[in-house]
Amino acid sequence: MSTRKILVTSALPYANGPIHIGHLVEYIQTDIWVRFQKQRGNLCYYVCADDTHGTPIMLRADMEGITPEALISKVSKEHQADFDEFGVAFDNYHSTHSEENKTLSSLIYERLRDAGHINSRTITQGYDPVKKMFLSDRFIKGDCPKCGAVEQYGDGCEVCGSTYSPTDLKNAVSAISGAKPVPKDSVHYFFNLENFNDMLRDWTTAGHLQPEISNKLAEWLDGGLKQWDISRDAPYFGFEIPDAPGKYFYVWLDAPIGYMASFKNLCDKQGLDFDEFWRKDSEAELYHFIGKDIIYFHALFWPAMLSGAQFRTPSAIFAHGFLTVNGEKMSKSRGTFIKARTYLDHLNPEYLRYYFAAKLSAGVDDIDLNFDDFSQRVNSDLVGKVVNIASRCSGFISKRFANRLSENCSEPELFADFVNANPTIAELYETREFAKAMREIMALADKANAYIDDKKPWLLAKEEGKDQELHDVCSMGLNLFRVLTAYLKPVLPTLVKEAEQFLAIESQLWVADMQPLKGHSINEFKPLMTRVEADKIAAIIDASKENLEKTSDKSKIEPKAKQFEEIAHTIQIDDFAKLDLRIAKIIKAESMPEADKLLKLTVDIGDETRTVFAGIKSAYKPEDLEGRLTLVLANLAPRKMKFGLSEGMVLAAGPGGKDIFVLSPDEGAIAGMRVK
Ligand code: 2FM
Ligand code: ZN
Repeated sequence: MSTRKILVTSALPYANGPIHIGHLVEYIQTDIWVRFQKQRGNLCYYVCADDTHGTPIMLRADMEGITPEALISKVSKEHQADFDEFGVAFDNYHSTHSEENKTLSSLIYERLRDAGHINSRTITQGYDPVKKMFLSDRFIKGDCPKCGAVEQYGDGCEVCGSTYSPTDLKNAVSAISGAKPVPKDSVHYFFNLENFNDMLRDWTTAGHLQPEISNKLAEWLDGGLKQWDISRDAPYFGFEIPDAPGKYFYVWLDAPIGYMASFKNLCDKQGLDFDEFWRKDSEAELYHFIGKDIIYFHALFWPAMLSGAQFRTPSAIFAHGFLTVNGEKMSKSRGTFIKARTYLDHLNPEYLRYYFAAKLSAGVDDIDLNFDDFSQRVNSDLVGKVVNIASRCSGFISKRFANRLSENCSEPELFADFVNANPTIAELYETREFAKAMREIMALADKANAYIDDKKPWLLAKEEGKDQELHDVCSMGLNLFRVLTAYLKPVLPTLVKEAEQFLAIESQLWVADMQPLKGHSINEFKPLMTRVEADKIAAIIDASKENLEKTSDKSKIEPKAKQFEEIAHTIQIDDFAKLDLRIAKIIKAESMPEADKLLKLTVDIGDETRTVFAGIKSAYKPEDLEGRLTLVLANLAPRKMKFGLSEGMVLAAGPGGKDIFVLSPDEGAIAGMRVK
C-alpha cells in the first residue's frame, strides 16, 4: 500500500474559555484517528489553533482589564497544556491571530471578490450608544414580539421558538451596557453563497459527508442559500478587511482559514510543501473533525470559500455528537460541566481516552459519560483484562527465567489469530468505528485470559518438570499482550509506551506482519494502570461545582448556529420518563384579538383545570375545540407570556397552517389519563 498524505484538523477552540470534557470528545477522537494513521505508516499531520477573534473575546479581555492579545496568549498556553496532558498530539498548534492567517484570509477574500463573489450593501443594526459599538443579535435582549416572553435574545425566542430580527424585540436593551440600542446604518460585505448552489449540491452528495449530514444539507439547500455577512464594524478584535478600512472579517470567516494558517506555519518550520496539500488538484487527503453544531460553516461556507478561491475542498468532514454526563446535558449546578484541568487534577487521562473510544462511532449520535459505566469499563477492560495478562505472566518470567522469554512460540495458531484480526481492527479505526474496534480488541483480551486460565501457570509453577511449559505459557501470554498493546496504541499512548519499555521493544507499528518475540529479554514489570477510584470521581464533581461561578456561559454569547443541534439529537428513557403527559379536555377556547397565533385554552387535566396558550389559531376556530381532547404536557414549568401565565403545553401535530391537529374525541379516553 502506498503512503497516504493526510492533513487532519479538529475544530479550533475559542480562546475565551477553558477546554472541558465536552470538547475532549472531538480532540480525543481525532487524536486516536491520527495516531492510527501514523502507526500505519501514513504521512499524517494534525494541526489546530486557538480561535481568537470576535466580540466575546474582546469583551472578556476588557472585563479582565487586559488586551485581547494578552488574553489569547494566556488561554493558548492553558489549552495546550490541557491537550498535551490528555495525549492529544498536534503536529502544530497555532492561532488565528497570526500573520499566516491574516495573509491567507486576505488572499481568499481578494480572490472571492475578484471572482465576483463578494458584494456590499448598507444595513441597519442596533447600536449601543454607551459602548459605541454595533450589537449583533445575540447582544440585544428584550421581550419576544410573538409571545411576550421576557429576556429573549435578538435572533429568536427560546420560549415560543419564533425567529425575528432584533428590531422587533420589545423593550430591547444592549446586553453589554443595558442601554437602549439605537438603529444605525453601516455598510456590510457579503459572500454570495448562492453562486455556489450547484457546486454545493454536488459536493454535499458526493460522499464527503456522513449520510445524515448530507440529508440535512439537502434540506438547507432546498430552503435556498442566503448571502453571508462576513464583515463587522470596529471596534472588533480581528483582521481589517484589506480594501475596507474600519471593517473587520467576521470571526467565522477567518476561523476555518486558521486550519490552513496552522499548516502553513508547520510547513515553514519543517520545510513542507503547503501547496501540495491545498492546491486545487491536490492528491493529499484533508479531513476536518467537528461537532454537529458547526456543520453549516464547514459543509457550506467553507467548501464554497475554498472552491471560489481556487483551493481544494475537504476530502471529508467528520461530525460527532455532543457529550452528555450521566444522561443529562453537562450542568454547572450538578457539577458535570467538567473542565479538562479539573479532570486532570484527579484522574488518569487515559481512562477517559479509552472510555470515549469505547463509546464512539462514525455517526453523529450524542455520547454519554456515565460515571458508573466509566469506572466499570476501565476497571474491567483495561485493568482486569489487558494489564492483567501482563501481571499474570511477568512474575514467573522474572523469578524463574531471569526476564527472558522462551525460544518457542508454543501456540502459533493462537498468535496468528491475534495478528489476523488486524485488517478488521484497522478497518474499524479507519472508519471511526472505535467502539467496535474496542470490542474486537477486548474479545482478544478475553481469549488471552482464557488461554492462561486453561494452562494455569500458577499450578505448572508448583509441578516438577513443568518448567518449559511454564516458560512457554507465560511467554505466549506476554506475546499476546504485546499484540493487544499494539492495537490499543492509538487510544492509550502512555500505557502502551510503558508496556513497550517493559517488553523492551521499539515503538510498535501496525500489527500486520508481527512475529512473536522469542528468546527476548524483557524488563521488570511495573503496574501499568490502577483501578478508577470512586472518591476521585466524587472529587471531580465537587470541584466542578465550585469552579462554576467563574465560568462564563459561552452558549449565551456565541453566535453559533443553534438550530443545527437538532441533528440526530436523542434523549434517554429517563428524560422521557420525566414528562407528565395527560389527556386533557378543552373546556373553553378563546381567541385573543392581539395574538396572531395563540388561542387561550382552559383544559381539564383530571385533577385540575389549567390555562394554556397554544399556537393553533391558524387551524381551529375556538368553538370547534371546546369539548375536544388533546394531549398536554402537565409538568412543564409555567411560563409568563404577554397574555398571562401558560401552565402547560398542548401537544398538537402537523406541518402548520390549517394542518395542525389535536386529538379527536375517542370513546374511553377521559381527561386526566396519563400517557403510558
Ligand atoms: O465552535 C467553536 O468552538 C469554534 N471556535 C470552532 C471553529 S472551527 C474552525 F472553523 F475554525
Ligand atoms: Zn416567544
